Amino acid sequence: MSQSILIIGAKSDISKEIAKIYASHGYNLILSGRKITELEDFADELKRLKVNVELRELDITQTDTFEDFISDLKTYPTGIIMCVGFNPPNSEVTHDQEKLMEVMNVNYSGPVIFINTIKKSFKSGFIIGISSVAGERGRRKNYIYGSAKSAFSTYLSGLRQELNKKNINVITVHPGFVKTKMTDNIKTIGLLTTTPDRVAMDIFKGQQSYKDIIYTRFYWRYIMIIIKIIPESLFKKLDL
Ligand SMILES: NC(=O)c1ccc[n+]([C@@H]2O[C@H](COP(=O)([O-])OP(=O)(O)OC[C@H]3O[C@@H](n4cnc5c(N)ncnc54)[C@H](OP(=O)(O)O)[C@@H]3O)[C@@H](O)[C@H]2O)c1
Repeated sequence: MSQSILIIGAKSDISKEIAKIYASHGYNLILSGRKITELEDFADELKRLKVNVELRELDITQTDTFEDFISDLKTYPTGIIMCVGFNPPNSEVTHDQEKLMEVMNVNYSGPVIFINTIKKSFKSGFIIGISSVAGERGRRKNYIYGSAKSAFSTYLSGLRQELNKKNINVITVHPGFVKTKMTDNIKTIGLLTTTPDRVAMDIFKGQQSYKDIIYTRFYWRYIMIIIKIIPESLFKKLDL
């Protein structure tokens, strides 16, 4: 039986690479996001791989639309990939309450409410949440975004325990720096910055081998071990 994957935030640079990989392995796709018709040409390209591609409009902050979105799905997905994200400069967010709410809603409350709604009818398969290494320790430069990602990772950890009995694999992805629209205006460390296609491949391989937690690239696991053991008394003085 052919399997289908629902990607939320499908216009993201990382999502598009994920979509290409799953399509090349024969998975049908439901691509969702805001102004999703912008993906029509991309969907046509994927269809050349002989898979079905459906485009569905979804704003992850419009939580009252989720029930209808889910009940209107023509095919029920075997995998869900939550790839939405919003990471404006922290200096802007701390002075703008509306933007602050949007960061929390896009990175945490919207994804949690969506997954909580769809999981009721989820019988088997996998749920992938794209979190971030930014959620592992708060930094001056992005702690609003980081704290929302941290909360999302905690949610996924609990969900993993809950759904383990049902054989549903819940995967938390912690990307480090990735060259995408999101990081266009952020100073990243060149050597540690990877590309969306490599992240997508790490996610695909991790999912196929039933991983629980994926750091991408792999070296971020070790970087974060070091970052997390720095004593708070020293960490607060660093300009990271
Ligand atoms: N790039 C990095 O260095 C990095 C590092 C760690 C984690 N991540 C995470 O990786 C994921 C993908 O990000 P990316 O780097 O590929 O960046 P991206 O290209 O900017 O993708 C972010 C996506 O989120 C969507 N989005 C934002 N608000 C939304 C809303 N209200 N409803 C629906 N969709 C919404 C955007 O949609 P529009 O196209 O309509 O704006 C966009 O497609 C995110 O979860 C991000 O937090 C990225």
